[in-house]
Amino acid sequence: MPVVTRQIGPCFAAEVEGVDLTTPLSRQDIAAIHAGMDSYAVLVFHDQPLTDDQQLAFTRSLGDIEHAIGTSLRAPDEYRLPTTFADVSNLDQHNRVFTREDRRRLFGLGNRLWHSDSSFKVIPAKYSLLHARSIPSRGGNTEFADMRAAYDTLDPETRAQVEGLVSEHSQIFSRQQLGFTDFTDEERARFAPVRQTLVRTHPVTGRKSLYLSSHAGGIVGWPVPEARAFLRDLVEHATQRQFVYAHRWRVGDLVMWDNRQTMHRARPFPADEPRDMRRTTLAGESPTAVQAA
Ligand SMILES: [Fe+2]
Repeated sequence: MPVVTRQIGPCFAAEVEGVDLTTPLSRQDIAAIHAGMDSYAVLVFHDQPLTDDQQLAFTRSLGDIEHAIGTSLRAPDEYRLPTTFADVSNLDQHNRVFTREDRRRLFGLGNRLWHSDSSFKVIPAKYSLLHARSIPSRGGNTEFADMRAAYDTLDPETRAQVEGLVSEHSQIFSRQQLGFTDFTDEERARFAPVRQTLVRTHPVTGRKSLYLSSHAGGIVGWPVPEARAFLRDLVEHATQRQFVYAHRWRVGDLVMWDNRQTMHRARPFPADEPRDMRRTTLAGESPTAVQAA
């Protein structure tokens, strides 16, 4: 098998070698990548000088793409990339770095909080594939936390407590934590909360994981402060350093993670330096919970 995985850091991240993502992959390679994702949850591919088309082709070879429509504060005429990409750069449509006060930048700072991509969508994302086109001179790591290990190490009482709980997710909740609250009425309607189960079971391995995200701002049937305190305790437990892998980016890296089994966050970097990261996303298969009527 040409795809080789080598474990790095904690046991849920691995490097993949012997694969060139700029060219179409064989069925065996694709199966090996899915198998690697099932067992590890974070895969790192170094030295992949992908174009947008090549990144899209590789993503599509793994499954259906999730489009990024209406998920940021960019107006339709401010998109730098097509909606097949989530633009997680700090660049405007003219490739200029956002000014420090730009509300699109301030909204994007929500990515510094631990989250799972698209947990604010009724059908949340499966995998995210993030490719580094340009990186700042320092900082800007992405950290990952293993939500299976987090679940496995819950004390028995908490493990019983989380079973069957449903949380409410919205980008309004995550931004609220940073004091970003100046949403328009249109944005508030667009970011209306969705429901997600708090425990997920992996469809292939059967392993359970905590489904947490900074977007979670409530638990159905619970008073809000109690829910937020409980969620905060779970995040604190889940992101202990022994459950975390910190990825230090090199240009040309592609890192792929399973949003069903991990959380991640971006780390700070100089605000005046470009960081061009392009994310493609694999769509999830179904809602995790029944939505509110
Ligand atoms: Fe993210």
